[in-house]
Amino acid sequence: MDKFVVRGGNPLLGTIKVSGAKNSALPCMAAAILTEDEVILENIPQVRDIETERKLLASMGAEVELGYGRAQHRTRIKCGILSDPVAKYEIVKTMRASSLVLGPLIARTGIARVAMPGGCAIGGRPIDLHIKGLESMGATVTYDHGYLEARVDRLKGAHIVFDKITVTGTEDLLMAAVLADGETIFENCAREPEVTDLAALLTAMGAKIEGAGTSTIRVQGVTSLHGARHRINPDRIEAGTFLVAGAISGGDLNVDGCEPAHLGALLAKLEECGVRLDVGKESIRVRSGDTPLKAADISTEEYPGFPTDMQAQYMALATQTEGTTVVSENIFENRFMHVGELNRMGANITVQGRTATVRGKSPLQSAAVMCSDLRASASLVLAALVADGETILDRVYHIDRGYERIEEKLRGVGAQIRRMGDVFGKK
Ligand code: EPZ
Repeated sequence: MDKFVVRGGNPLLGTIKVSGAKNSALPCMAAAILTEDEVILENIPQVRDIETERKLLASMGAEVELGYGRAQHRTRIKCGILSDPVAKYEIVKTMRASSLVLGPLIARTGIARVAMPGGCAIGGRPIDLHIKGLESMGATVTYDHGYLEARVDRLKGAHIVFDKITVTGTEDLLMAAVLADGETIFENCAREPEVTDLAALLTAMGAKIEGAGTSTIRVQGVTSLHGARHRINPDRIEAGTFLVAGAISGGDLNVDGCEPAHLGALLAKLEECGVRLDVGKESIRVRSGDTPLKAADISTEEYPGFPTDMQAQYMALATQTEGTTVVSENIFENRFMHVGELNRMGANITVQGRTATVRGKSPLQSAAVMCSDLRASASLVLAALVADGETILDRVYHIDRGYERIEEKLRGVGAQIRRMGDVFGKK
């Protein structure tokens, strides 16, 4: 099982490049199911979840070419014949975002069998709202030995008000609605940039969508969609993670190839802490200020609020600010798995329900720590960058799910980090 070894103390200096957004690429790859034509997606990140999605689509009969390097992180997908429209448990259990094939499968073929995604480290992760939406569009949903089966001749337009704001729920049902008979109106939608990115691809494929990125989305169903070529958005969470890396290490880092407009809540919070930011068109320069960083509370909310996917990373920074930071996690019920490990490194964090209280500034010490989920892993890497000595992070396959070669990117700006077994400095 891969480990990282990180020696703390180096300020990060130079330019670090942001990859394409995993959470845009996943729904966009699933959207290829909606047409028998070829769909080409550029700027796909080279991360484990994308490989899982490739396997999932291929297992259903799709042709999926996943090229990197010369192919500029491109994927070519052709769902000509979907010989086996089933999302099997062996794959779904490794990535709950597999539920994103549910909507496009039933829209394209009239039937979908998807293994019920179990929970994960950060919460139960139900998909009841996905199912409720499909039923209101006329699908019959049954459950069979851990699989969900949805059937319909053709989905029909409906008026759907989401009980809770759900990102993949909005994406899944948007993909169902584009081929439905008639108009579908969605209210209380997720407004994340990943929803807007998916809608841009669907529109390029011939879908008729208004309001993506707002709380109300209108879709006029069409009878078929054609192929398209689309470039995936930059990953706002990877960019945010690198901004925190520059701040926590006391460096001077240029985070390049990002979309600053997607980072508003985080940028405002970092400035409140006293972090210096110079925001460009597609890059952000981050430096720690002249005065010590000071505590600033966060409360995670749906976009455009402070993103839950940046909560763990921000908490690592909070351990290095003067004062007390109150972190409220309002999206997931169990997203403080990083707290125990940060405390083992010398942090002073207490948890009460969905609120964590961070008392800083605490000098962090290196330790052997365990990664538990994708963003908790990122938080531990950030803490290790500033800890005294050599930290060993175990189970880094969690971080490989959503960060492309993070150790190489960080080493490129001066971090002393290697994947166990590497020799320092060797590529
Ligand atoms: C997406 O997950 C992201 N994943 C998550 O990123 C992200 O943390 C999350 O949105 C919130 O921003 C992808 O896009 C692949 P939700 P998703 O449905 O869609 C409840 C990462 O780190 N809910 O918006 O699964 C749910 O339990 C990952 O990259 C229901 O109750 O999240 C949660 O409390 C982690 N019923 C809340 O809504 C449903 O049917 C928000 O979940 C669906 C969701």
